[in-house]
Amino acid sequence: MTSAHTDFSPIVWRGDSLSLLDQRKLPSEEVWIETSDYRAVVECIRNMSVRGAPAIGIAGAYGLALAAMELAQSCIGDFSDRLHAAAREIGRARPTGANLAWAVERMLSASASAQTTEEVVSDLASEAASIHREDVEGNRRIGDNGAKLIPWGSRALTHCNTGALATGGYGTALGIIRAAWAQNRLERVYATETRPLLQGARLTAWELLRDGIEANLVADSAAGALMRRGEVNAVLVGADRVASNGDVANKIGTYSLAALARDNGIPFYVAAPASTFDMGISSGDEIVIEERDESEILSYGGNRIAPSGMSAFNPAFDVTPNRYVTAIVSERGVARPPYRRSLAAMMEGANG
Ligand code: MRU
Repeated sequence: MTSAHTDFSPIVWRGDSLSLLDQRKLPSEEVWIETSDYRAVVECIRNMSVRGAPAIGIAGAYGLALAAMELAQSCIGDFSDRLHAAAREIGRARPTGANLAWAVERMLSASASAQTTEEVVSDLASEAASIHREDVEGNRRIGDNGAKLIPWGSRALTHCNTGALATGGYGTALGIIRAAWAQNRLERVYATETRPLLQGARLTAWELLRDGIEANLVADSAAGALMRRGEVNAVLVGADRVASNGDVANKIGTYSLAALARDNGIPFYVAAPASTFDMGISSGDEIVIEERDESEILSYGGNRIAPSGMSAFNPAFDVTPNRYVTAIVSERGVARPPYRRSLAAMMEGANG
């Protein structure tokens, strides 16, 4: 069965302002942040009110449209210089996901031939809406392409949140789960909690419940035991950046799941739109891994967990070597090893 909830988007453009569902507060509160200040959008990306590589790219694109609107009203300095400075500020908000820099680049190219500030503003607003719309359309195709890989009666394990909340709507790995569930291919989903910020427990669980998909939440550390007991037929994850050799940066813990899947003979699938592929880097070694504040590990919900005096190391992502990846699913199709060749063919003619 499909659900109306799959059309939900955490990002709503209102013509001269942007509404973002504050994902830090879910699932206990559904609070929308409304702003017309691009600096607030940058802050929402940094503090993860909006998160997930595609959603960050879309928010950044609308952020640049807001920056242009503000600059068009002001007489201080050169419009184009200041717009490019705002674009750099937005592009730096989080480093690992490819989609943010991709979206900013695409926005600047879309407005490059505009003759007036009014034209720049209108080109940027319509380009951001196109990026948003295309992401949702692409997710639907990822869902269709990926669902075919899921045998009837499967139990799938997923990590972090890759659903409507992490994208323009619908989702990537969770989009495949949605499509496979609608086709009755899936018996059950296991969602990992995803320490330290619990995107699985808070966000994926929220989406799965809204869609009525049969699911269990599991501790991250339970994944190996579940696989060993034969409870998992496929692992499905998203990506923040895919290198041209098929190495994949994704939420911390993904590499461990991939190695466990290999050890248990379980296929490990990565789902991502073309905007997440970075064909300019030859391997995952070139991916900048964001390190976040140690308080995310030492405390939860404002309550200190670790004894005072303890310090923490908090990489937000890891890199899964291509040898563990069974297939990479995008809106353009399904790539299999050797990835240098299959991804190059998949991305031929793409602007990503
Ligand atoms: O730190 P987050 O919550 O932004 O990390 C999100 C992930 O790692 C997702 O798996 C990835 O962005 C793909 S979302 C479609």
